Amino acid sequence: MSTSGDSDTIAQTDGERPTTSTNRRQPYGQGFLDTISTGWAERPDSTPPQRAQAPYAAARRDAVSAAFPGSRVVVPAGGLKQRSNDTDYPFRAHSAFAHLTGWASDAEPDAALVFEPREDGHDVTLYFRERADRTTAEFYSNAAIGEFWIGPRPSLAAVAADLGVATAHIDDFAGGEDDRVVGEDAEVTRFVSELRLVKDDYEIAQLREAVAATAAGFDDIVADLPRVIAHPRGERIVEGVFHLRARSDGNAVGYDTIAASGPHACYLHWTRNDGAVVPGDLILIDAGVEVDSLYTADITRTLPVSGRFTAVQRRVYEAVREAADAAFAAARPGVRFRSVHDAAMEVIAARVAEWGLLPVTAQEALDADAGGHHRRYMVHGTSHHLGIDVHDCAQARREMYYDGVLEAGMVFTIEPGLYFQIDDTTVPEEYRGIGVRIEDDILMTADGPVNLSADIPRTADEVEAWIARLSS
Ligand code: GLY
Ligand code: MN
Ligand code: MN
Repeated sequence: MSTSGDSDTIAQTDGERPTTSTNRRQPYGQGFLDTISTGWAERPDSTPPQRAQAPYAAARRDAVSAAFPGSRVVVPAGGLKQRSNDTDYPFRAHSAFAHLTGWASDAEPDAALVFEPREDGHDVTLYFRERADRTTAEFYSNAAIGEFWIGPRPSLAAVAADLGVATAHIDDFAGGEDDRVVGEDAEVTRFVSELRLVKDDYEIAQLREAVAATAAGFDDIVADLPRVIAHPRGERIVEGVFHLRARSDGNAVGYDTIAASGPHACYLHWTRNDGAVVPGDLILIDAGVEVDSLYTADITRTLPVSGRFTAVQRRVYEAVREAADAAFAAARPGVRFRSVHDAAMEVIAARVAEWGLLPVTAQEALDADAGGHHRRYMVHGTSHHLGIDVHDCAQARREMYYDGVLEAGMVFTIEPGLYFQIDDTTVPEEYRGIGVRIEDDILMTADGPVNLSADIPRTADEVEAWIARLSS
């Protein structure tokens, strides 16, 4: 038996931080230590087939290699983050790491993808903590990573076959002073972010799956509206119903679900979700399923809780839809990303001016320098790139993003809204407490935009028919 000695000593030295509180640790008896490493069947060292994403990830790595000749580039997966004593947040690999390895919901914490320069290009190796041999204390005493606690972990050979990349143990990785590390080196960080601006076929297929699962989650919510209304914290029921769909059909939600009923809809990122859902109000639901590859949808629908819009709710709703449709019509290859927002803003400004809410004309409000009055009712932007991150490509340069040009393969949201806060005295009382957003996920193609989420009811009439069909 190679494992011997005091178990506390073993447990305290097998991780970088204590993995369990020490004030209640029970010492292992010698009988345990003498036998724990024996009696286990041989584990078949089967290697899985290469996953579908592998050739796509290889092409992305080639792009990184070509952009940084002679540099040692390191892409860390990131590590576990403690939530509470002995409890971590669910691990989610860094998005650049997932993109360049194809290792996503199943990635190991503390892994690193390393581009080692050679004369011509790079040798690329994925370092990670291979599963511990059953003769080690890690196997049984490390609650954070030991297989006794968290279940099977992969071998170097299995991951190499799965991802189509060379693998090595993380203990064999030594960082260097000149390493260019994603997240630390601005140029490398920017490059890998911009590399995601145009999606490949694999990514587009994953985003379609994320949208389909999200559509099913919205159906689940609509079908459960009676339960939502009956519960004093109906917003939580909405969140929970969607979460069930996200966890059963995907990896997780791509961001915290916004279930914002009544005046809560005017708080743009309302995620407290502890309110009642009251007939007569609208409920704004912004939710997205993240599939196992980590690509996420980002979709918003605003529903009349009773099943029917009031006249003023419908007026606001249809103005937002008109803005969304104008933005969609403006989007095509070769136009600037920001022109999509401009098209939505023209409609928003025109409608709020028509309703008498502005101290100036719509024309004056749209003046880039002196105007902006209408933005009081929609302070957020109309679009963002969508992919592995809900707000994808966040480190891209402005000239590649907001001032950049739309290209086939880009995926982005169109999500105008109108929000009249409950205590906003600039609007007539009948508007106060109404918040509407309609958000769709758009794929740009050479032939123009495709609304990936078009099958989720969008018009006021369609939304009413949807509720009538599913929740009665
Ligand atoms: N769900 C956040 C957003 O729509 O951007
Ligand atoms: Mn969005
Ligand atoms: Mn959203």
